[in-house]
Amino acid sequence: MSDQHIPVLLQPVIDMATPENGQSSSLLDCTFGRGGHAFALANEFPELRVFAVDQDLQAVEFAKAEYQKEIESGRLQIVHGSFHDLVGLVEKFEGVPNQKFDLILADLGVSSPQLDQADRGFSFQQNGPLDMRMNQNQQLTAAEIVNTWSEDQLRDLFYYVGEVRKPGKVVKAILNARDEKPFRSTLELADLIAQKEGWRKKGWHPATQYFLALRIEVNQELEPLEQALKDMMGLLSENGRLLVITFHSLEDRIVKNVFKASEDLGRRINKKVVQATWEEKKSNPRARSAKLRGFLRQTQEEL
Ligand SMILES: C[S@@+](CC[C@H](N)C(=O)[O-])C[C@H]1O[C@@H](n2cnc3c(N)ncnc32)[C@H](O)[C@@H]1O
Repeated sequence: MSDQHIPVLLQPVIDMATPENGQSSSLLDCTFGRGGHAFALANEFPELRVFAVDQDLQAVEFAKAEYQKEIESGRLQIVHGSFHDLVGLVEKFEGVPNQKFDLILADLGVSSPQLDQADRGFSFQQNGPLDMRMNQNQQLTAAEIVNTWSEDQLRDLFYYVGEVRKPGKVVKAILNARDEKPFRSTLELADLIAQKEGWRKKGWHPATQYFLALRIEVNQELEPLEQALKDMMGLLSENGRLLVITFHSLEDRIVKNVFKASEDLGRRINKKVVQATWEEKKSNPRARSAKLRGFLRQTQEEL
């Protein structure tokens, strides 16, 4: 089982997180994963205390085992939950000055261990249960969507969220197949999609966009994001910085719009999104679609 996750855009994150006075004392990491970003920032800022959230129980277990010393020393606190409920989660942390943070990071989407473990059901390349839940305590799975949603609901999901131009043929095939036997595994679905769509682009599995749409729906990655970002802004201390990394154009649009609409609170750190260099994209394919945006909370006098 792989527990490796290479943090994307690491140097740009550190650069953007660095305040003019050179110090930050608290980081709220809304998507801890394996702690790659959090502890790179902690190494950069010796005073930094890390307050972390992740909705994946495995990420929390990993932190408790791997960062036991940091937890004991009070440098790291971690809670299980979704940043969609951030305001309530933050109350569980101890010793946060005014319940505000100098740095807030959201590195959205899935981690490599989630994708790599067949039994999490995210991969169309390895067989596993058709699951795709980041939070193991939630009810909704990809299998439930595929086996119970109507033809129109599935078509809209694949068209609007997956950005598949003509999902009709695949949706019809899903409906016919599930009448015989409900879908249980990732490869049952991936093989059916490949059969109907055919392989058009070299190196690009025809199920890619379908699986992405299901994952986004299972984990509610789009709709609650706007409010969550507003909550993050509300938790920034004066001169605090919010950094968000997205991997999907619909997600990035939400971040861009919330940042633009928040000019009464501060300003965007970068007007143009930061993307990975060619070298980073080559060494870490996950970085290909990554986009970083930053927002600086300002004081009343500065606004
Ligand atoms: C891209 S990984 C973060 C990797 C991390 N920055 C690192 O360097 O190790 C995304 C993580 O965010 C978590 N996550 C995604 N959506 C979440 C949400 N709404 N609330 C809390 N955690 C979430 C996932 O479970 C996953 O562990």
